Amino acid sequence: MESIRVIIVIISFLVLSCNSQTSNPNDPCTHISPFIYVCDNGTILRDTATAPLDPVPPSSPHDPTTRVSSKDIIINQLTQVSARVYLPALPSPNQKIPILVYFHGGAFCIGSPSSLLDHVYLNKVSSTANVLVVSVDYRRFPEYEMPVPLDDAWDALQWLALAKFTGSDPWISSHANFDKVFIGGDSAGATIVHHLSLRAGTDVLPNDVKIRGAFLAMPYFLSSRLLPLEPKAFPNQSFYKVWKYVCSLCLEGVDHPYINPAGIGAPSLSMISVEKIMVYVAEKDYLRQRGTLYGDLVVLSGWDGEIQVFEAPGEDHVFHVFRPNSTNTKILIGRLANFLEN
Ligand SMILES: *[C@@H]1O[C@H](CO)[C@@H](O)[C@H](O)[C@H]1NC(C)=O
Ligand SMILES: *[C@@H]1O[C@H](CO)[C@@H](O)[C@H](O)[C@H]1NC(C)=O
Ligand SMILES: *[C@@H]1O[C@H](CO)[C@@H](O)[C@H](O)[C@H]1NC(C)=O
Repeated sequence: MESIRVIIVIISFLVLSCNSQTSNPNDPCTHISPFIYVCDNGTILRDTATAPLDPVPPSSPHDPTTRVSSKDIIINQLTQVSARVYLPALPSPNQKIPILVYFHGGAFCIGSPSSLLDHVYLNKVSSTANVLVVSVDYRRFPEYEMPVPLDDAWDALQWLALAKFTGSDPWISSHANFDKVFIGGDSAGATIVHHLSLRAGTDVLPNDVKIRGAFLAMPYFLSSRLLPLEPKAFPNQSFYKVWKYVCSLCLEGVDHPYINPAGIGAPSLSMISVEKIMVYVAEKDYLRQRGTLYGDLVVLSGWDGEIQVFEAPGEDHVFHVFRPNSTNTKILIGRLANFLEN
């Protein structure tokens, strides 16, 4: 009896120490949770506890709950960047529907289109809004630094625009309404969306494709100057501390325009080249003030478009992905559907 108990204790010890090796590296490392480990030997590791350890496959023929079909495809042969594409159940075979090019969050370090929560969220968005979604697996830190995610995102738009006539993707050829191309993302994905909406004003997409609207959910924006309502502990947060690694060449730090839309040398927000913007913030989110300030700055810039800013009461950062069944998530998806329809 006693020996059995000893064996069980030894086995549980082994199991525990194996687990701690995956999420706690041996050498002394500083954990910037949940994004990276910065180790004393100079190595930087992704926090694999939050990377998708069990990615979910695309749904073929379709997701049983929403009846949305999805597939993973390479969108750039050179970089091997891929995307997960979602097609809702359509009443007629050649029905054209809006397109949403979507970017997940994760401070440019973690997150993936194949993570369960993102997959569930986009199935709901695709079925509720009746929209074709392209969820881009842009390259991340620590393998790649900024601006690689921004360039991969622009590549994704170019791929989409080219697919308008090349027939490279049958879902896009048959169902994409190129008069209704939207971009959207949450957290770092919303930061990407901001940059794409500016870049669309200076760089031209193939086949005269224009971006109609931008959806920014709880955007990941920073600044060295705290706003009056911003918590004093703001610079102590992981999303703030991680930035100097994610962009080690950004001499302006958190005031680089990559992460601060009103940062040093940032272009005027009046240059944003979409017709309409929807910003979503969450009441309890550390990034709430940055998101509402963005809305104010866009208006003050004299930008010639329509902007809506919504706040989800009682919710925290990226609640719509983490809490798929909450009432506030249903409201958010409903507003997004309305935004994509008009
Ligand atoms: C540095 O430490 C990390 C964390 O333990 C380890 O994974 C990595 O292999 C080490 N690198 C070198 C070059 O020793
Ligand atoms: C900063 O965060 C650490 C833990 O990450 C905490 O121990 C410390 O008290 C925080 N400091 C401030 C000023 O909030
Ligand atoms: C949300 O609801 C669905 C269906 O009722 C359920 O399968 C799923 O586990 C729920 N998700 C969460 C995170 O609560």
